Amino acid sequence: MITRKSAPWQLPIEAATPEHLFFNRRKIIKAAGVLGVGALAGCNPSSGEAQTASGGAYPAPEADLDFSESAYTVNDDLTSYDAVTGYNNFYEFGTGKDDPARYADEMTVTDWKVTVDGRANNTGEFALTDLVDYGALEERVYRLRCVEAWSMVVPWVGVPLSDVIAKLEPTDEAKYVKFETYLNPEEMRGVRRNVLDWPYVEGLRMDEAMNELAFVAVGVYGKALPKQNGAPVRIVVPWKYGFKSAKSIARISFISDQPRTAWQKAQANEYGFYSNVNPTVSHPRWSQASERIIGAGPFARRDTEMFNGYEDQVAHLYEGMDLSENF
Ligand code: MTE
Repeated sequence: MITRKSAPWQLPIEAATPEHLFFNRRKIIKAAGVLGVGALAGCNPSSGEAQTASGGAYPAPEADLDFSESAYTVNDDLTSYDAVTGYNNFYEFGTGKDDPARYADEMTVTDWKVTVDGRANNTGEFALTDLVDYGALEERVYRLRCVEAWSMVVPWVGVPLSDVIAKLEPTDEAKYVKFETYLNPEEMRGVRRNVLDWPYVEGLRMDEAMNELAFVAVGVYGKALPKQNGAPVRIVVPWKYGFKSAKSIARISFISDQPRTAWQKAQANEYGFYSNVNPTVSHPRWSQASERIIGAGPFARRDTEMFNGYEDQVAHLYEGMDLSENF
């Protein structure tokens, strides 16, 4: 057992990504008269960039997707591709923000399988293409608000989590869904240290998982997910702190009791099960009232919003709950 787990979050947050890495894709799209991220990012699987992202190891978003009409967007500058893929938390590869970009390449993602078990009619081992409908990919621009009090605005590509769950047909006894992520000490140098109790485990209440905002991402910026961002498949839960958004998912379990997550096991008084973004409830060691904007210069900050700005869509899930108790 690990006795002291607070060290990782105490690491000094690295200097912001240099200004020149930042660009506003929306402005570029307007200027160029280009409609979709696919066109801008050159996400044709046979194009060079998409190939680099997945190396042909798993499906990439197809060309000619028009993502311009997404109802899910954030009217703020996008964080640059370089910052999104260069400033990461993926502790299996180390606790430094640049460790994932440096070492995640060692992860094998070919022939990816996701095991589904527990209280569902459709269990077993699934190929990625059986879980995710690549013909129905959409782009959603969500802000990822990390518990370390910084945020990024990311154009994710994927499908609603509710669509994936519907295929698996959970039974009425399924009250929670648990996500366990890939673990291979041969390929993941970070797991040789007991920073967390591996494998990384996260979970959602079923009604949270079925909320329209919860997303299964297979890409960013119109390209297949780079390994450091959780290739080939991860979840994105935009109203919760970033650590709920588990990367490189290997197992989905439908269960009756609330799962104990990796971060709860590490430090239950600091990282609760719900972890809803909440500017009024401080982390025991720092305020959550505002956040640093990654990639926008060293002093760029914004006020943190309740549920990360998604109060209308998700507040009803927590009616009657004391959110300072259920943090
Ligand atoms: N998933 C796994 N398997 N391991 C991790 O260490 N870190 C989480 C989350 N998912 C993490 C993970 C945290 S703390 C954050 S903030 C987000 O991933 C970061 O996602 P990004 O690097 O794509 O921005």
